[in-house]
Amino acid sequence: MAKKTVTMDKLVALCKNRGIIFPGSEIYGGMGNTWDYGPVGVEIKNNIKRAWWKRFVQESENSYGVDAAILMNSRVWEASGHTTSFSDPKMDCKECKSRHRADNLIEAHSKGKVNPDLMTNEEMEQYIQEHHVCCPVCGKFNWTGIRTFNLMFETSRGVTDESQNKIYLRPETAQGEFVNFLNVQRTTRAKIPFGIAQIGKAFRNEITPGNFIFRTIEFEQMEHQWFCKEGTDGEYYAEFKQRAWQFLLDLGFNPEHLRFKDHDKLAHYAKAACDIQYDFPMGWSELNGIHNRTDYDLSRHQEYSGKSLTYVDPVTGEKYIPYVIEYSIGADRLMLAVLSEAYDEETLEGGDVRTVLHFHPALAAYKAAVLPLQKNLAPKAKEIASMLKKHFPISYDEAGSIGKRYRRQDEIGTPYCITIDFDTMENDTVTVRDRDSMEQIRLNVSELVDFLREKCAF
Ligand code: GAP
Repeated sequence: MAKKTVTMDKLVALCKNRGIIFPGSEIYGGMGNTWDYGPVGVEIKNNIKRAWWKRFVQESENSYGVDAAILMNSRVWEASGHTTSFSDPKMDCKECKSRHRADNLIEAHSKGKVNPDLMTNEEMEQYIQEHHVCCPVCGKFNWTGIRTFNLMFETSRGVTDESQNKIYLRPETAQGEFVNFLNVQRTTRAKIPFGIAQIGKAFRNEITPGNFIFRTIEFEQMEHQWFCKEGTDGEYYAEFKQRAWQFLLDLGFNPEHLRFKDHDKLAHYAKAACDIQYDFPMGWSELNGIHNRTDYDLSRHQEYSGKSLTYVDPVTGEKYIPYVIEYSIGADRLMLAVLSEAYDEETLEGGDVRTVLHFHPALAAYKAAVLPLQKNLAPKAKEIASMLKKHFPISYDEAGSIGKRYRRQDEIGTPYCITIDFDTMENDTVTVRDRDSMEQIRLNVSELVDFLREKCAF
């Protein structure tokens, strides 16, 4: 697949024009870094989540799903360390009042040669002074000092002022899995090692959100925690790196557009951590993370809740707090990677250029579009579309020339276009056009369901 005709501007425009993703609250002038998924986008994103869930829950041995509350007891965030240490180093430009992350300023200024993750706040301030790093917005050099800024969104619980209690919108879904560790283990009778997975919204008051849906303040995470015995954690860490990588290849990613990147600075709870980076339109950036979180989370929740989270091995009677290997990927970030990877502009014979999304058919919003060649064939086409809609999401389009209708479907990645023509009325056959090769075959209407089911399976 050709790379890289795609730019972020082209993707944003395509998404807006084809009902994939719209700017949030658009009629009110927008709300910075929020995005709304449209009729096509919601289907693609749901398919991404479905593919992930199928791979990591349904087809996984000993993995179970949960859907935990977004609002959790505030003690959860004290135990997890988020209230004290989930923060970024923030600097304000005194001239234009724009806000920046000190680590990002250093990374950009040094063109990635200096790693701010290894620096203290004082060292970052010193670097910015010594290298005269100017504000990327106004070009001036007049900074405040670095202040740490907690990324959690706060809200309050209660009906009267007196009863107000500060609570948080969860900044990661992981804690919902940890606090339910024993509930899941007890009700499924799962034995270690086993996994708990969740897909859900997370919220972060990011200092520098941006790059379309890459970094937003509200996003969805797909997280899987694998509970295992200390000593086996290294082996499972390696296994999850491999499984996360394979999932991306199976979705159709070119391995040349992916790479592993070990974390230089480990979080306080981690023994090992790495990202899979993708070559996004703005450059190589984190797509997902794999972390060896040790027994930190369960130990802390045991300490803060006062409830035992110790696992008792049913065979040996051994008691221990399990280690956790976490695999975490943003659904929106994966959506951006899927769209970037799929986007292509192809010059056709005759010089026309078609924009096409070549993603895996399982991710396509519509598995097929049903197109009557002429308006008088619409009743038959509608009958075939209704029959197919019982099995798959199907698009129906009778407006404009057949060529234009093919292009519209190419632009949203519909893998097959089914054309109803005069032969259909004679012998109940249709043409089926393949999005990628643009070749057409003729099939009997009765073969369509099995054909699409086979081609669109993940
Ligand atoms: N529980 C671990 C955790 O949350 P993280 O590296 O902070 O780790 C995991 O986030 C994944 O969530 C990232 O790799 C990315 O795919 C996604 N993600 C994180 N922050 C995001 C944001 N502001 N907008 C969109 N996706 C985000």
